[in-house]
Parts: sequence; C-alpha cells; structure tokens
Amino acid sequence: MCGIVGYAGRRPGKPIILDGLRRLEYRGYDSAGIVLVEDDGLESVRAVGNLDALFATCGQSTSEATVGLGHTRWATHGRPSDENAHPHDDCTGRVSIVLNGIVENYKELRAQLTERGHTLTSETDAEVVAHLIEERIGGGLTTAVRETVGLLDGHYALCAVSADEPEIVVGTRDQAPLIVGVGDDEMFFASAIPAFMAHTRTVIFLEDGDVVTLRAEGAEFCDVGGAPLVREETVVQWDDDAAEKGGYETFMLKEIHEQPAALRDTLAGRLLEDGTVDLSEVGIGDEMLRRVRRVFIVACGTSYNAGLIVSYAIEQLARVPVQIDVASEFRYREPVFGPDTLVIGITQSGETADTLAAMKLAREAGSPVLALCNVMGSQATRDADYVLFTRAGLEIGVAATKTHTSQVAALLLLALRLAWARGAQSEAELKRLGHELRAVPELVQQLLERDTAVNAIAQRYHDERFFLYLGRGMGFAVCLEGALKLKEISYIPTEAYAAGEMKHGPIALLDKESPVVVVADDSPIFPKLVSNIEEVRARGADVIAVATDGNEVIGELSRDVLWVPRCDHHLAPILTVVPLQLLAYHIATIKGLNVDQPRNLAKTVTVE
Ligand code: F6R
Repeated sequence: MCGIVGYAGRRPGKPIILDGLRRLEYRGYDSAGIVLVEDDGLESVRAVGNLDALFATCGQSTSEATVGLGHTRWATHGRPSDENAHPHDDCTGRVSIVLNGIVENYKELRAQLTERGHTLTSETDAEVVAHLIEERIGGGLTTAVRETVGLLDGHYALCAVSADEPEIVVGTRDQAPLIVGVGDDEMFFASAIPAFMAHTRTVIFLEDGDVVTLRAEGAEFCDVGGAPLVREETVVQWDDDAAEKGGYETFMLKEIHEQPAALRDTLAGRLLEDGTVDLSEVGIGDEMLRRVRRVFIVACGTSYNAGLIVSYAIEQLARVPVQIDVASEFRYREPVFGPDTLVIGITQSGETADTLAAMKLAREAGSPVLALCNVMGSQATRDADYVLFTRAGLEIGVAATKTHTSQVAALLLLALRLAWARGAQSEAELKRLGHELRAVPELVQQLLERDTAVNAIAQRYHDERFFLYLGRGMGFAVCLEGALKLKEISYIPTEAYAAGEMKHGPIALLDKESPVVVVADDSPIFPKLVSNIEEVRARGADVIAVATDGNEVIGELSRDVLWVPRCDHHLAPILTVVPLQLLAYHIATIKGLNVDQPRNLAKTVTVE
C-alpha cells in the first residue's frame, strides 16, 4: 500500500524516480507526487489519480537534480486530493517527506504542532512528520529523522530530503517495507524491489528502526539512538522482464498465462521424480510434523481462499484437524492454540498487516509459525519460524492469479509431506498423488489453450447483474476465489455458497436473470452436487459449470460448460480456478474496465 521511491546518484533523478513509481503503481493509485532537490531548493509536483496524471503534470519539464523522492498513494487518512498527495513539505519548504503506512498518534502531534505555530495544509498523518523534522533540522537531516522517529507511534516507512543537504536522502521503517538498492555510484530507496530492478539487483533489507542515509557513494546505517549498524547486501534473482507486460494487454492476463511456469518453479526440487516430497529446505523435519496435533491457517483474501482449498486436503490426506480464519478476525477473537499447533500464515506479499499480526500472536502463544510467501526478505519471512516460498515471480496485477495457484501447489506439497511423516496414507498412494501433481503444470498449459471458449461465455453473460457461485468441498473454496475475482475486477456483485446450503436461504436469489457458476469436478461429492444443480435448473437459472472432460451428466445439465482436464480431485482446484480467472478477466475487459488497477484496491494491504 503506497509506493515509495528515493534516489541519490549522479544521473538526473526525475526519469529514474518516475520509472520506479510506474513499477510500484500496483501498490496504490489514488494520487502521486515527486520532489527533486534542485540547486535553488525543493521542487515538488503532485497530482490526483493514477500516474498518468502526474506524468501529464510534470512529464515534459527537464531537471538535472540527482536527488529526489517519489510516492504513489493509496489513501488511508484524507481523501485523494492534490493537498493530501505526497510529498509533504514543512513550513519553510526546505524539508519534504513521503510516507507509507500509518502514524497512529498523528492527531495529538498535529495539535501540538499547530499550538507551536505550524501551518498544516493536508488532512494526512504524513504531513506532521515533515513539520517534526523541520523542528529538529538544526542537527542535520539524519539526526532530525532519528529524533522524529522517537515521537511516532504506528507502522510506517518514510523518506526525507532537505534543501540544506542536497546530496542525501534519509529513510527509516517500522513494520512497513523499505529496502535499499545498491547501484554503481547511485543508491535507491523503494517499497519493493521492482522499483529499481532496471538499475540493480543488489539489495539491502532494513530492520525495523534502522535509519539510513543514502548518498551516491553508498549507505550509512544507524539505529534510532545514532549507533552505527552494519547490514548485509543480497543479490536477488527476479527477472526485470517481470515488470513488463511482455506482449500481453494487461499484467493480469500475462500472469494468468505464467501459471504453468510458476507452478513448475514452485514444485521444482521439492516434488521428486519418484513422486515423494522433499521440503528439507523449509527446516521442518518429519519428527516435528509428527508432533503437530492441529494446523491453523491465517490469511486474507485470495490467500485465505488458497488456505481453505488445501485445508480439505490436509485433513483428508494427513488426518490432522485444520482450522482456518481470516487474519483480521483471528487476531481479535482470542484463539486457542499452543506449541502443538502449526500456524501457517499465507501471504504472497509478506506485508499484509492483519496476517503479520496474526502470525505474531501465534508466535507469542508458543506455536511454530510457517510463512507461505512469494517475496524474499518480506516481513512475513522474517517473522516466521519457517518459510516456504512460492516461486511465482513478481505479480503486478492487483487481482492475484499465479500466486494463488502456486500457493495451492505449495500447500499440497506440505499436505503430502505431513501425510507421509505421519503415515496417514500408504506410500504408494502418496507417490501416486505426487506423480499426478507433477503433471498439473502441463494440464494448466492445456487449459489456457481453451481460452476462446471462456471468452465466448463471457461475451454471453457480461451484462448480467449478479452471479451466484456454487460448489462443495474444495469446489466451494474455488467458488469463493472465482467470485472474488469477478467482483473485484468487474464490480458485478457475486455470492459464493456451499451448494448444500443453498436451500437455507440463497435459493431465494435464483431467477432467470442470474447465472449460476457451479464448480463440479469429479470429486466423491459430485452426485450430491448434481441434485443441487437440478434445484437451480428448476428455478430457471442458467448453469455455467466447470467440469471434468468427458463428464456427460454435466454436459446435459448445464447451459454452458468450461471443461478442465482430468486429475485427482485433491489437485483439481489448481485447474478449476483457471477458467474462473479467465471468465472474470474477459467480463471485466468487455466492460472496458482496468483489470490491473481495480477501483479502491491496492496490491499490498499494509494497514489494518
Ligand atoms: C485479491 C487479492 C487479495 C489478496 C489479499 C492478501 O485478488 O489479491 O485478496 O490476496 O490482499 O494479500 P497477501 O497474499 O499479499 O497477504
């Protein structure tokens, strides 16, 4: 949520900062701004709307400034407006800051600043920081930032520049992302690696409370008290092409098509040729897996849906009870767990505030915590006892697709290993499932080649005002994900229900106008689902089924069928979700909507 870019180097900073913002735009797109440290002072430009508005306002002017900051915002305090856009200046116009996150005590600080004669022009929590730095600037920008940090409650990352020290940018973080990029005679701050990936892959991950001073020659780290610190450099592997659309119209479509590769990479080296699973890199041994008496999954949104899907597989295969909760509920409901509960926090970004808080709570209760994450160095990977990485590569489209199916695949590996360690299934059965899982990336590839059929269905139904999704077991969890995709990018209301629950209320929604999407792969519960489909048909609603190739029963019952290749029903959710992603995608694009930047959303939700 919100993207920060900082630059201190020898080249003109403006195009570098603007390009960095473009690559971080998925983090927020309500407003944006840039500040450059020019010879005669600070020069800022802000604009409401996505980055196109900022480019239109400042794109033409040239600048030789080699130090500056940029920000793309997702509003927390204060509506999107020019005044509330970052950067924020102090009273003198000699200090400017950008901030991501929340300063919880800003009202109190604001009142104190106003009493001391400051004039604040925005409604944001961030602006107070510029004025607090102004009051302390006598000792230099680094000292002023250090002293200001001591006054702030909340979780934030911020960067500051001063006209009086034109060669430096100072940044700090507390429970919000900020990383340093180490270039050749140039240094970067950013909320995420893609911002500077075109210039360097050498990264320094900050710890909470680090205060960092960047100049072209390098970075100096100290703690809030001013004591010097040493931080290691890491070289990251992500490919810069990941931040480009590579011939696709949108990032979302590109990422949908990257799923076979993301799945292959996630399974590589973990799912062995003989069908067994090796998760030794995670550090959880079989001894520990045998001691687990319960699994508790916490996550938000699409990551929650991945957890729900695999919660069925973990119980069915490993015979361990699984509980799952959305992280924002879990953290406030006084959950009961202890050292024999394995808590799995699923978060592709590794930054989601509620999931991080839930994981922290679990660790405090003495539970071992495993993070399932896609981003190296992210907060979740530092907070957890164990980390299992999905290897989906950078995901920019706000609607998660390839990270979702990679999460399901990685969790299935865990389910298989758990079952193996506990002797809950025969080795032959687990190897059979392992072999089937190895074939899944290729099946997803085949499925993507059937996109024309999905598009045809989208053309037929894109004007509908409501979609009901029905499924049972893992199919129900897939419905939640399909319904979430459609509502978030097409703004069409959707409801996903366990099909057996339909008679207890939602059946009242059915009429001839509302299509019903049914996830009906060949699972043991399929015959029950057939009765539910009959109930839908009896009310005159059109059924769009997602079903396994060759299932004649479904062919007769449904107006439209999205066929998926046959595979074991525990693995089928990786397949059945793909046509639902594409259906949502096509409906939204037919409606002319921006699928990569749906309204009101941001890719990473770093606030509660
Ligand atoms: C929806 C979507 C969100 C995220 C949720 C959690 O398409 O992407 O629902 O899944 O915000 O994000 P992470 O996985 O980063 O914790």
